[in-house]
Amino acid sequence: MRRLAILGSTGSIGTSTLDVVRAHPERLSVVALAAGRNRDLLKVQCETFRPRSVSVGSKEDADWLRSNLSYQPELHWGDEGLLACALHPEANTVVAAIVGSLGLASTEAALRAGRRVCVANKESLVVGGALMHEAALAGGGELLPVDSEHAALHQLLNGRDPLTIREIRITASGGPFRDWPLARIQAATIEEALNHPTWKMGPKITIDSATLMNKGLEVIEASVLFGLHADQVAVTVHPQSQVHAMVGFHDGSYQLQVCANDMKLPIQYCLLYPDKLPGPVLPYPWDEARAWTFEAPDLDRFPCLGLAFEALRAGGTAPALLNAANEVAVAAFLQGRLGFWDIQACNRDTLDRIPAMPLGSLAQVLDADQAARRHAEGWVQART
Ligand SMILES: NC(=O)c1ccc[n+]([C@@H]2O[C@H](COP(=O)([O-])OP(=O)(O)OC[C@H]3O[C@@H](n4cnc5c(N)ncnc54)[C@H](OP(=O)(O)O)[C@@H]3O)[C@@H](O)[C@H]2O)c1
Repeated sequence: MRRLAILGSTGSIGTSTLDVVRAHPERLSVVALAAGRNRDLLKVQCETFRPRSVSVGSKEDADWLRSNLSYQPELHWGDEGLLACALHPEANTVVAAIVGSLGLASTEAALRAGRRVCVANKESLVVGGALMHEAALAGGGELLPVDSEHAALHQLLNGRDPLTIREIRITASGGPFRDWPLARIQAATIEEALNHPTWKMGPKITIDSATLMNKGLEVIEASVLFGLHADQVAVTVHPQSQVHAMVGFHDGSYQLQVCANDMKLPIQYCLLYPDKLPGPVLPYPWDEARAWTFEAPDLDRFPCLGLAFEALRAGGTAPALLNAANEVAVAAFLQGRLGFWDIQACNRDTLDRIPAMPLGSLAQVLDADQAARRHAEGWVQART
């Protein structure tokens, strides 16, 4: 039985995870749920799944839940609450599905405590890099990627030696601005950037998909997860999002992974691994006529993807600096404080101005994250 702690249960990945739990009551149960501010949805989830431990963003919301739930779970709040859920003694599996580098400490702690950690929170892998593997090694934890491209690669690579691989390719839908000219992209509005053509996701990752920073973070994530260097990771734009990743071998041949673009599939893959059982997603409908297209990404119109390759090549804390600047810039864009094109400019400036250091302890990584946030905040304020 997989007994789950779901961090970010009220988000897009969190609610899809609970759909997968509903489909497999004999294999999956819920021990702990953690969310931020959506106490109403968290209450409904608690009444349905009756977790023993619950965490919410603030003490006020924890008190509200205590008065409004029909049973009395352990109630926590804030960063300590996230850790309490991640380390609940009865949970053997943690779904890391909160947004941003905020997820770093709980992902690391769960790996160090020997849990299976299904990581949707790609920022923690981008920021923490090799430290996540070290935590898993030290504590006997198991790291499985929820991101559809990386779950696809996990299946394709299946423990292969990286030396036997020429390259891996992750696909990108191209986002809402795939075929827009540069001048139109530069002036894109919040509504236009939030209108993703193929995936329904939370706001931060949706903006990252419009800038292609999401694909850049995924390039770094792939390098961290599978021990590949920057020249072995490539991106192909595939607007239909049916092929999720490809592995290229030295003889020039490729293997591709195909499935519906529904996050419940990679979530179930991680939760039930190594078993593949019928679940909430139907088998791929091969008899429905369809065309697939593939093209190279345009780094002039989507410079954030190039910045991610730059940070990966620079190594050390450079990915953490880029990620932190991007979190600040995207939040400012969503608040109407920055224009769309300013996101890449803020990221560029932070990478140029804050020197990257070798990857040391988790505390050093968090220091780099804070330094980049302060710089990016200053950059935003100077423009507003
Ligand atoms: N959505 C996708 O299809 C997808 C695909 C691949 C990877 N990912 C990755 O998965 C992660 C989650 O993405 P998402 O789209 O599910 O995001 P989302 O819909 O915005 O959900 C974020 C979740 O994090 C919670 N949260 C935010 N701040 C918190 C805090 N301080 N303490 C505890 N919980 C907090 C939110 O709670 P409240 O809502 O209650 O505030 C919510 O449950 C991201 O790293 C993203 O890159 C997502």
